[in-house]
Amino acid sequence: MKVVLVGYMASGKSSVGRLLAKEIGLDFVDLDTYIEEQQQQSIKDIFQQKGEIFFRKLEHQMLEKVLSEKESLLLSTGGGTPCYGINMDTILKHSDHSIYLQLPVSTLVERIAQEKEERPLVKDLDDEELAEFVGKHLFERRPFYARAKFTLDCYGKSVEDLVSEIKGNLL
Ligand code: S3P
Repeated sequence: MKVVLVGYMASGKSSVGRLLAKEIGLDFVDLDTYIEEQQQQSIKDIFQQKGEIFFRKLEHQMLEKVLSEKESLLLSTGGGTPCYGINMDTILKHSDHSIYLQLPVSTLVERIAQEKEERPLVKDLDDEELAEFVGKHLFERRPFYARAKFTLDCYGKSVEDLVSEIKGNLL
């Protein structure tokens, strides 16, 4: 079985993915970590040294590779993955379940503000700019995320709640 999680930065894709994979016995792959391992370079450095266009091409290749080479897995994508090229088609074609972890802008802004330095797209924004950026960006990206087979409202729910909801209702 192949399950793919999509959603904006800081929506919980990695933490929900890791626990869910463990509970249902699937291999867990975080696409950002997979890219870093394959390239032997951090995402932050790839953005800084080679630029976003290079990163997006690489992200597409790595998405195709991981989804076609693994029989079954739980894949957490990067926040931008579904929103470039044919990536969302690739996700839908190769997965049995695709789930959008949905959160309101305010929650995402609060979470991202705590760990801005690690995130190349927002690291140079101040708090006010961050809120505006996330609002606009999510508006542009939501249609891509919404193509996932399921949209899961994550507001106010713990990782454990989300995992049992996915196990009980979606899988
Ligand atoms: C990105 C999100 C990041 C990472 C890269 C670009 C984005 O992943 O892929 O920094 O475009 O939203 P997370 O969603 O895991 O932070």
